[in-house]
Amino acid sequence: MSVASAHQHAVVLILDYGSQYTQLITRRVRELSMFSVLFPGDASLDRIKGVNPRVVILSGGPNSVHVEGSPRVPDGFFEYCAEKNVPVLGVCYGMQMITHLLGGEVKPAVHGGEYGRMPMDIAPSSQLFDFLSSSTVNVWMSHGDEAVKLPAGFTAVAKSHQGAIVAIENSERRIYGFQFHPEVMHTEHGMEMIKHFLIGIAAVPADWNMGQVLEEQMAKIKAQVGPDDHVICALSGGVDSTVAATLVHKVLGDRLHCVFVDNGLLRYNEQQRVMDTFKNHLHLPVLCVDHSKPMLDRLRGLSDPEAKRKAIGAEFIEVFKNYANELEKTLGRKPKYLVQGTLYPDVIESCPPPGSGQKHSHTIKSHHNVGGLPKDLQFELVEPFRELFKDEVRAIGRLLGVPDQFIKRHPFPGPGLAVRVIGDVTEDGKLDTLREVDEIFINTIREYGLYDEIWQAFAVFLPIKSVGVQGDQRSHAHVVALRAVTSGDGMTADWYSFTPAFLRDVSNRICNKVRSVNRVVYDITSKPPGTIEWE
Ligand code: XMP
Repeated sequence: MSVASAHQHAVVLILDYGSQYTQLITRRVRELSMFSVLFPGDASLDRIKGVNPRVVILSGGPNSVHVEGSPRVPDGFFEYCAEKNVPVLGVCYGMQMITHLLGGEVKPAVHGGEYGRMPMDIAPSSQLFDFLSSSTVNVWMSHGDEAVKLPAGFTAVAKSHQGAIVAIENSERRIYGFQFHPEVMHTEHGMEMIKHFLIGIAAVPADWNMGQVLEEQMAKIKAQVGPDDHVICALSGGVDSTVAATLVHKVLGDRLHCVFVDNGLLRYNEQQRVMDTFKNHLHLPVLCVDHSKPMLDRLRGLSDPEAKRKAIGAEFIEVFKNYANELEKTLGRKPKYLVQGTLYPDVIESCPPPGSGQKHSHTIKSHHNVGGLPKDLQFELVEPFRELFKDEVRAIGRLLGVPDQFIKRHPFPGPGLAVRVIGDVTEDGKLDTLREVDEIFINTIREYGLYDEIWQAFAVFLPIKSVGVQGDQRSHAHVVALRAVTSGDGMTADWYSFTPAFLRDVSNRICNKVRSVNRVVYDITSKPPGTIEWE
């Protein structure tokens, strides 16, 4: 999304202090059909003034205001906002910064912090919450510091059940703060809180939509790829790369060359299923390359999750280079570009996004298509969804006519089953066992009609054995974990609450059909503190 297109829209400016959730705020704003711009937290006052923001949101971040050099708004920021009557909302670190800079006090939390779900009580009268009928709401926290004394003119309008001040306001100065994260889907009424702030308090007009994003991205591809250039696209069989290929195909036609790599890390019968769909439903010409042996050879002996991810990224690039060399023989020129369905969560979790100012953010895991790419990559990347979230891509897919059955597929990570076999993936039959278990789990979910309610479901092969009794005999066999989560974007997630009858049924099916497994466990961890995948 180019900032240039902001001119005709009211701008919601988000200053980024490095939280994993900053982009979610951007996205929530877009869901409300408002144009949002993300600037680094240390952006100069002139740069801020340059976009003439209608409202400014200060994001969360991993810092403490007490740490020397911790990021903050530029000098003169609050004076500028007061002069222009621009409302300011601080979220988590943003609220602590407001408190600290305007004369209040922030300290390490007495209880050691609040992480995950936490109920809060709302004061009887407040501008931020006056649309809510309930006075207690469950919100999602992730903080170690908290405000203990508020600046003059501010009121605490919500407290957590641990006693922390979790929302503040100064309606005269139009400065507000949430200690919790209203942008994550697990905060009850979170979206309504953002909406109420933007529409009810800041009066921002809703004048922006996904059709425009699609047009902007198509124009961008046209401008990036020269008229005689060719492009290759690696299709994974997932939603993102498929929609990316469909979009690029619409712009470039047969200058797009798609390849599907069987990397040896696919699920049960996946190669046939995916190739059939490409051919029969999407009418995309796709070449299937079997690269399973070199990939598994490269992974042999690797058990560190990051080492595995980097190896997979590098091996993928080898395939693309070979494919480009082959194409050169028929086209007379080498494709210069590589299309990837990279999403914004892949980018934030792999590295600080360029220009985002997230100097302090941490690598959670190197997504194979971002942090796993080699430095000497010989392609220029075409990544139309680098700033988008999964359901925005799904919306674009629908606009492009991609069939719904494809759009609704659960996400599957690029490194495939390698991140679902803990440790060395190549050892004795682990991948095959996992394929069988996964297939039973997914089929059972489909049979029970639960597939569309769940964001993602899969099995994980654990590096332990357990003692059991099978057919009156002692067994010493493998343990598998099942994971199913609900999520809106993959940034936060909660475990799916199956009925005991479902869990009993699926566990029986697995242990009866897969002889090398004698124990099934169900993962009941949210994200955070876990991630969706185990590695
Ligand atoms: P995590 O495990 O980080 O996953 O909570 C969030 C979402 O991203 C998917 N995922 C990946 N997707 N390449 C991808 O294309 C990767 O390297 C990768 N790692 C995780 C994961 O399945 C979930 O949907």
